[in-house]
Amino acid sequence: LIHSLSLTQLEVLPNALLCVSDTDGIIEWLERGVEGSEIQEVAARKGVILDGGVEVVVLGKGEVLCPGMIDTHTHAPQYPNNGLGQQYQLLEWLDKLTFPREAMFADVEYARRIYDQVVKRNLNAGTTTACYYGSLHDESTRVLADICDDKGQRAFVGKCCMDRNCPPTYTETTESCISSTKSWLSHFDKFTSPSSSDSGSGSDQSVPSPPLVQPILTPRFAISTTPEVLAFIGKLAHSRSPSIAIQTHLSENPAEVEFTKQLFPDCETYAGVYDKYDLLGPGTILAHCVHLDDKEREVISKRGAGISHCPTSNTHLNSGAADVGKMLRAGIKVGLGTDCGGGYALGILPSLRQAAGVSRFVSWSSAGSTASPSSCDAQPLSLPQLFHMATLGGASLCRLESRIGNFLPGKEFDALRIKPASPGMWTDDRDSPEEVFEKWLFTGDDRDVADVWVRGRRVGGAA
Ligand code: GUN
Ligand code: FE
Repeated sequence: LIHSLSLTQLEVLPNALLCVSDTDGIIEWLERGVEGSEIQEVAARKGVILDGGVEVVVLGKGEVLCPGMIDTHTHAPQYPNNGLGQQYQLLEWLDKLTFPREAMFADVEYARRIYDQVVKRNLNAGTTTACYYGSLHDESTRVLADICDDKGQRAFVGKCCMDRNCPPTYTETTESCISSTKSWLSHFDKFTSPSSSDSGSGSDQSVPSPPLVQPILTPRFAISTTPEVLAFIGKLAHSRSPSIAIQTHLSENPAEVEFTKQLFPDCETYAGVYDKYDLLGPGTILAHCVHLDDKEREVISKRGAGISHCPTSNTHLNSGAADVGKMLRAGIKVGLGTDCGGGYALGILPSLRQAAGVSRFVSWSSAGSTASPSSCDAQPLSLPQLFHMATLGGASLCRLESRIGNFLPGKEFDALRIKPASPGMWTDDRDSPEEVFEKWLFTGDDRDVADVWVRGRRVGGAA
């Protein structure tokens, strides 16, 4: 078992025995250092008799169990565009490729067909939790939420709010944005919390676990959203306790930053626009944040909002190289996002790899473009930091760090069984579990994800 305990601690547990409740998917206990021959005895000591009623999964040699991965920023209607558009920068890319594709999701049956594939393929790629932007369409976005619930993916699902600066074929009026956001939100009342009363081990018994599928308010970005809608969302978010989650884009591209400043001349910074409308809080996920200044990092940190780092997208759309080290040093929570289809790849692994690469370029250029890597003060992201961002860090952006993100008892079992199978992965019986795991992070893919569990239920995998 391999999991993250903090930004600096990646714990490797050879021969561990983990017990998951089949009533609520909660991890009841975790015993370290249990040999295969001791399974019966250790389980019995814990009060679990291994008869036919208990499912036992024994990892084969060279297999690894790790927590499910969390995609903190992606656009469900853009998956059919994955791989296109590297010749554009953000605003032109939105006009030429993205808005026309999203407009197609007015057709609910088309949406159903595409979203069914998006959720299935994401689960198989190891994404156990996803923060989805839908299109602006209320009904199609409800369909997305239902598909996540049916297939068992933990998800935040948002209807895009976009009532200005969008093409006439894909926009909404301020009134219809407000009324359809209210109507979309009411759909989520049907997703209820699992009953946790019969579990003996939940870490936080007094507060029921949130439903698997939750709403997330989604003002697309400041450019496409009027001040009326931004103010409406700020109020709506805080009308509940805990507040409703919010996701938006921030400071992705220089032309976007410039246009935003023109639209909101009274705000000193781009982050200041969201702060003015009360949109920055612990339940807010800010995607990209490539061009932040120190003041912006300070307000994001102070409000407890998190940043979704989307390095494949930032590279593909020529947005720039986000400095994650500066975010972390400012005390900001950071997770990883695919940003499909600004990013081109399914699943978090390509984002993790690109995050590693970009952090090296950032560290080299911070020391001057001709500097050798050894003379840099800024350090590239380490493997524990990268995997933390893919799991526990992502969980903290979703305010789920007490529920998921690693295998501590009391958390819900969202996990992947990695069994090397893809042709690019060279492993043999001389590899340690850490080496198999590291190779998978950098060379593997969904063919190596044998099983995927969310809240203890098997929901995908190649096995
Ligand atoms: N900014 C506003 N909308 C979008 C989007 O769909 N993708 C990205 N990457 N940035 C955006
Ligand atoms: Fe995005």
